[in-house]
Amino acid sequence: MTETQTVFSEFDPTRVPSPCYVIDLATLEGNLRVLRRIADDADVRVLLALKAFACFEVAAIIDTYLDGTAASGLWEARLGHDRFAGEVHAYLPGLKPDDMEEIQTYSNHLIFNSLNQWERFAPHLSASAGCKCGLRINPRHSEVEIAAYDPCAVWSRLGILAQDLSTDMLGQITGFHVHALCDQGYEPFDRLLAATESRFGHLFGDINWINLGGGQLLTDREYPVERLTDRLRAFRQRWGLQVYLEPGTAVALNAGALVTEVVDTGWNDGHFAVMDASATCHMPDVIEAPYTPDLLGAVRLDPITEPAEQDDRVFRLGGPTCLAGDIIGTYRFEDNPKTGDRLIILDQAYYTMVKSTTFNGTQLPAIALWNSRTDELSVIREFAYDTFESRLG
Ligand SMILES: Cc1ncc(COP(=O)(O)O)c(C=O)c1O
Repeated sequence: MTETQTVFSEFDPTRVPSPCYVIDLATLEGNLRVLRRIADDADVRVLLALKAFACFEVAAIIDTYLDGTAASGLWEARLGHDRFAGEVHAYLPGLKPDDMEEIQTYSNHLIFNSLNQWERFAPHLSASAGCKCGLRINPRHSEVEIAAYDPCAVWSRLGILAQDLSTDMLGQITGFHVHALCDQGYEPFDRLLAATESRFGHLFGDINWINLGGGQLLTDREYPVERLTDRLRAFRQRWGLQVYLEPGTAVALNAGALVTEVVDTGWNDGHFAVMDASATCHMPDVIEAPYTPDLLGAVRLDPITEPAEQDDRVFRLGGPTCLAGDIIGTYRFEDNPKTGDRLIILDQAYYTMVKSTTFNGTQLPAIALWNSRTDELSVIREFAYDTFESRLG
């Protein structure tokens, strides 16, 4: 059994409404401890990338361990400022003049995506806000195979290439930001850092901080934390820069599940089950990435598995929407799902709540906080019709 399977096998899914995102505070805190250890051992600062996980009800725990938040939009910056403690680093590829004044009131660090944006907005910096300004750099070093997740792919709009940047352009710029990994381990990070040093190192004497982004599974049990902290310490010694990391996934890795109920089952070319949770509305990465999430008590099958007529235990689970492709995955069950059964989809804390939609008028999952150590549970939010209606007119 994987880590989340072990933890959530103790959870009774009938204790919450369905569908419901359930966050395990004990696993979350375990992840945060690992991140604090990295921060302390390497003498770097670690921020939560709000784009992945922004449940401010757990801000008190996050604030205890991390140094602040990283925002990708005006509202994330406001959430970081209003609901979390510590520094707020804002990087908005599409910053607009109307947002410039407000974003400075929330942010300690403001990172510009292009030289155009920097030149356009530098005159509008407020001395009293005192934001430290940085540039996103693009080392053109690809470690991610899927282009949609590779900020260094050809024709990328994310960040400035080394050939376009020189010391005389830096002016009030005090730092750089680089992010080019996705769900990766130490070696890709090491190679990315080496490429960044080799392409931009000649400019490091002109800045005093660097944000090395997210995209590493720092809290995975297999991740070699000591190799990372050694590398970061050596980097700091060589260049004398304050280093930031901004993980998202790693903060909430294995710390959440989505409880869902079987609404109907049947047989067309094979067994299907209609669930009250939707891939497209509640777990969009299942379709976008794509990937098949783990399901407690069932074996995940290859996404292209054709319905197995002879296999009575294989079911394809889909959402309640009209989208034919709203498929959660195909699984082999020990006990076949029946209408009314509750199932637990694993590892659904990150890039889920932040991305959920009400497409088709589908209800948003409730949110519950559970502590797998003490078994304490509280349902902190249930959504009503007004959440759907208020965005439509
Ligand atoms: C600029 C930036 N920082 C941090 C992250 C967080 O990455 P992850 O959630 O993979 O750790 C992302 C993810 O896309 C990102 O684009």
